[in-house]
Amino acid sequence: MSSLDKIRVAVLGYGHWGPHHLRVFNTIPHSEVLRVADMDSKRLEQAKKVAPHVQGTKAASEIFSNPEIDAVIIATPTTTHFELAKKALKAKKHLLCEKPLCKTEKEGAELVALAKENGCILMVGHVFLYNSAINTMKGMIDSELLGDIYYATSTRTNLGPIRSDADVSYDLATHDISIFNWFFQAEPLSVSASGGEYLQPGLKDVVFISLRYPNNRLVHIHVSWIDPKKIRQMTLVGSKKMVTWNDLEPQTPIAVYDKGAMVTPGEGGFGEYLRVSMWDGDVRLPKIPNSEPMMVQANAFLDAIRNNRVEKSDGDFSLGVIRTLEAVDRSLKASGAPVELSK
Ligand SMILES: NC(=O)c1ccc[n+]([C@@H]2O[C@H](COP(=O)([O-])OP(=O)(O)OC[C@H]3O[C@@H](n4cnc5c(N)ncnc54)[C@H](O)[C@@H]3O)[C@@H](O)[C@H]2O)c1
Repeated sequence: MSSLDKIRVAVLGYGHWGPHHLRVFNTIPHSEVLRVADMDSKRLEQAKKVAPHVQGTKAASEIFSNPEIDAVIIATPTTTHFELAKKALKAKKHLLCEKPLCKTEKEGAELVALAKENGCILMVGHVFLYNSAINTMKGMIDSELLGDIYYATSTRTNLGPIRSDADVSYDLATHDISIFNWFFQAEPLSVSASGGEYLQPGLKDVVFISLRYPNNRLVHIHVSWIDPKKIRQMTLVGSKKMVTWNDLEPQTPIAVYDKGAMVTPGEGGFGEYLRVSMWDGDVRLPKIPNSEPMMVQANAFLDAIRNNRVEKSDGDFSLGVIRTLEAVDRSLKASGAPVELSK
């Protein structure tokens, strides 16, 4: 393995998302992209235009057998992740795999074990964990600025991109589930989901998910890739304050509302009347550090290799996301019946 001062990387999959990985890992002084692999030669031609010094190959196996490569970034379709990740880890390459890590908990557990066995870093591209606005919200939860979190909602809709190898929950709700599992440092206790298939048999285009987390925290997620509007929004309602997040509002994505409601005993003195008091104070727009989540994620991956420790979104965390996605799938198949998770 090479010096950790300059980690040599290969990007596997140069479709829509691979180019972002190529750009960020080529920008960071402590990494260098040596190879791009894609089975489509047109995509390799595109990569050549952007980075003429990077060698392209149609065969992923060339990357795994290349001793010059320290780390592999997998940015191929979801259904290919497991087999490719297995090969990368068996070849002792550190791995940053795009979300979701794979389709089932069983596959994920095999990958986590393989990474440990081979002394490799396994990190998953749950990119919102590296988003500064989402990190600001996490700080508000942890510092109890918001009080007890009652419930949260998230909407992630757009027209396209429409996938054919995974449904909209594996594609989009992965993000929201990773955010809430991380916010609450817990996996949901129960899941129920309903959805609709309109374009491709067996693949949901729209899914509505309800999750109940420990401490009676309720979450609702709406994801769709056949929607008229691109929306990336979230609301957190706490006992002290409420927060909204709008990812499409780059300057001020977060608003903190000094609003709330509480029940106080009635004035009769015997507590027989309940009075609900509400407050409606200022709205604050905190300044959010300006950073590119993909860049922060790439630096976190390089740090993980150097420190032999993944700070966020390691394989075990990602297993929790997959467990939740599988529960969503079971509930979808059972027409929305609640699915209990054992953890
Ligand atoms: N983090 C995010 O916000 C985000 C956003 C978009 C996509 N993604 C993830 O990135 C991954 C790729 O998504 P995409 O939109 O770029 O998909 P895509 O279909 O646009 O591109 C995938 C590329 O992989 C290539 N490919 C497929 N199998 C291959 C193989 N075995 N060997 C070599 N090349 C192969 C294809 O030719 C294609 O060019 C998915 O896992 C997706 O979930 C993440």
